[in-house]
Amino acid sequence: MSKLPLLFLATAAACLLAGVGMGIAMGITHDFSLSPVHAHLNLLGWTSLALMGLTLRAYPELLRSRPLAWAQYGLSAGSALIFPAGIYLAVTQDAPGVAIAASLVWFAGVVLFLARLVGLLVAHDSAVTTVSARLNPLAG
Ligand code: HEM
Repeated sequence: MSKLPLLFLATAAACLLAGVGMGIAMGITHDFSLSPVHAHLNLLGWTSLALMGLTLRAYPELLRSRPLAWAQYGLSAGSALIFPAGIYLAVTQDAPGVAIAASLVWFAGVVLFLARLVGLLVAHDSAVTTVSARLNPLAG
């Protein structure tokens, strides 16, 4: 069993810890200027990475191609960590470059995630067609 789903979940939980810690700090200080950093750490980092990890656990066929599975982890987890840092720079230094670059990397990870799910769907459909043709060769 690959450790990749667990790695997705552990990275997600680390983002949750950081995001919730930020939320508590914002509440204590009444300074909400960094709430977009907090929101994206939680939504990309915690929510999206956890869903990706659970998807890999639900469909272990996605782990068969290890290079693609690790590429998706690299793109998604890397940008989920760098994008909030980029938003921080955009808010505090008026420097949006890192956020823009990380958002494009995140987008690439989402495209790869979707492509792999569609690939699985197509493989599933053709496997079902082959089995039903073998079971009932007269049905055409
Ligand atoms: C202990 C847990 C948390 C605390 C104390 C907390 C606290 C906060 C605070 C103080 C704000 C700013 C509100 C304002 O601007 O008036 C905020 C905004 C937000 N939080 Fe949290 N939060 C927590 C967990 C979460 C989680 C788990 C998520 C998502 C999975 C989340 C998503 C958001 C979003 C989307 C916003 C709006 C950001 C914006 O308008 O720019 N929060 N939170």
